[in-house]
Amino acid sequence: MSTAGSPDSSPEEGEGLDGELTFGSPLTRRRFLAMSSGAGATLLCSPLLLPSGAAAQTPVPISAVGTAALDGEGLIDLSLKINGKTFPLRLDPRVTLLDALRDRLQLTGSKKGCDHGQCGACTVLLEGRRVNSCLVLAASCDGDEVTTIEGLAQGDTLHPMQAAFLKHDGFQCGYCTPGQICSAVACVTEGHAQTDEQIREFMSGNICRCGAYPNIRAAIREAHDATAAAAPKRP
Ligand code: FES
Ligand code: FES
Repeated sequence: MSTAGSPDSSPEEGEGLDGELTFGSPLTRRRFLAMSSGAGATLLCSPLLLPSGAAAQTPVPISAVGTAALDGEGLIDLSLKINGKTFPLRLDPRVTLLDALRDRLQLTGSKKGCDHGQCGACTVLLEGRRVNSCLVLAASCDGDEVTTIEGLAQGDTLHPMQAAFLKHDGFQCGYCTPGQICSAVACVTEGHAQTDEQIREFMSGNICRCGAYPNIRAAIREAHDATAAAAPKRP
């Protein structure tokens, strides 16, 4: 259907609905869209419309963050002490501690569940405190001591918390387990594992999709009691 009075404005042959006129103008919908998308592309690409200096920069795709996306430029040097060993690193400053551990150092025990600080699968100990390593920038940890699940055992001897998790079947698929164990170690050290109620509350940042919570609690309680029994008694 034509809405304009001019004979030139009739829909182009074979264009069907796309050949309909737009708002009474002599443009067809197809031509209008082609022109406007071309204008949009021009706006996006025009160096004159970018802040000064920005045009010269090569954009770094977000998906490339954590790789050598900056091609040497803008990388920073830092060193992390992980599980007792010092690792010098050269990283994009946007790399998280979790990605540095997993992708750069192949310490894949710490898991990436949500990458948003909501599941606890990536929990590690940073200077003795538990953190979600997906929320921490590696650059902010320069010189700091990091303990991951790989660093808890002493040789072939499991950490008491690892042994307790095994004994109590504190896992099913095991995906959350490294984070649960690191978090549990800190929970005991903090003094927040005195009761089931406390454990429930202070381990609530570590989600287990398999629902192994009763067994996890039993493991933490046992490791807590063993630690308390081994602690030197005050006179
Ligand atoms: Fe870090 Fe889920 S991966 S909290
Ligand atoms: Fe499967 Fe916890 S054991 S998510």
